Amino acid sequence: MKKKIVKEIHFKSVDSTSTYIKKHYEELENLTFVSADYQSNGHGRMGRSWKSKSGENLMFSFIVKDPLLIKKFSSISISSAVATLITLKSFGLENVTIKWPNDVYVNDKKITGILLESISLDNEIKFLVIGIGVNLNVKSFDEILKTKATSYYLETNKTIDINMFKTELFKNILNILEQIKINNDDYLVIANKYNYLYNKEVYGEINNEKKLIKVLEINKDNSLHVLVDGVSKDLYYGELTFHINE
Ligand code: BTN
Repeated sequence: MKKKIVKEIHFKSVDSTSTYIKKHYEELENLTFVSADYQSNGHGRMGRSWKSKSGENLMFSFIVKDPLLIKKFSSISISSAVATLITLKSFGLENVTIKWPNDVYVNDKKITGILLESISLDNEIKFLVIGIGVNLNVKSFDEILKTKATSYYLETNKTIDINMFKTELFKNILNILEQIKINNDDYLVIANKYNYLYNKEVYGEINNEKKLIKVLEINKDNSLHVLVDGVSKDLYYGELTFHINE
């Protein structure tokens, strides 16, 4: 079998691996992975920042330029979450789940955040940037994050070799993307098996209105099947902001 060549760039320090890709997209090949020990300006969703001390956690982004994958863009963040779950489980972590559309949880705490950005020119998506931060060896969080975030170390009391984890995760992401390209949606079976929100009642903001929502399964088109006031509805990425236990 032909060995897959992983295109990788690694920085000791960079502003943000996702920003690097956006600045250099022209010279980067499809599925190039950019990682860093430290980001001086890492960002998360909803304008939040993503902070991590140097060499404590895994932070990387990859670029998708292949039109076949860009077309499947709604699958990319959930399948990256599935690849992360598979990798965390393969390193012995238990109770790993996926919080639709793109976080990975252990018990009730977040261990991985995923940020999908699409960059368009002339009304057409040119490329996607998927940025992933996995909390691996961080030993403590500040007061605010403490109740919401966890890491491999905090769950197992063991540190992990970040490079070994990275190699395994890149391999798992590439495998799932290959499957997506040939319309194999097995990743959804895993996303549903480990669906953190399944059967939970959560508050969500739909069209600026706060509603109590009962979550059901993730649909074939990656939308989330829910009940709002007892009525069945499919929610799409970006349509919903969750507030659990509020
Ligand atoms: C979130 O949960 O809000 C998404 C967090 C994404 C963080 C990663 S770390 C690597 C990449 N570079 C960034 O600046 N952000 C993403």
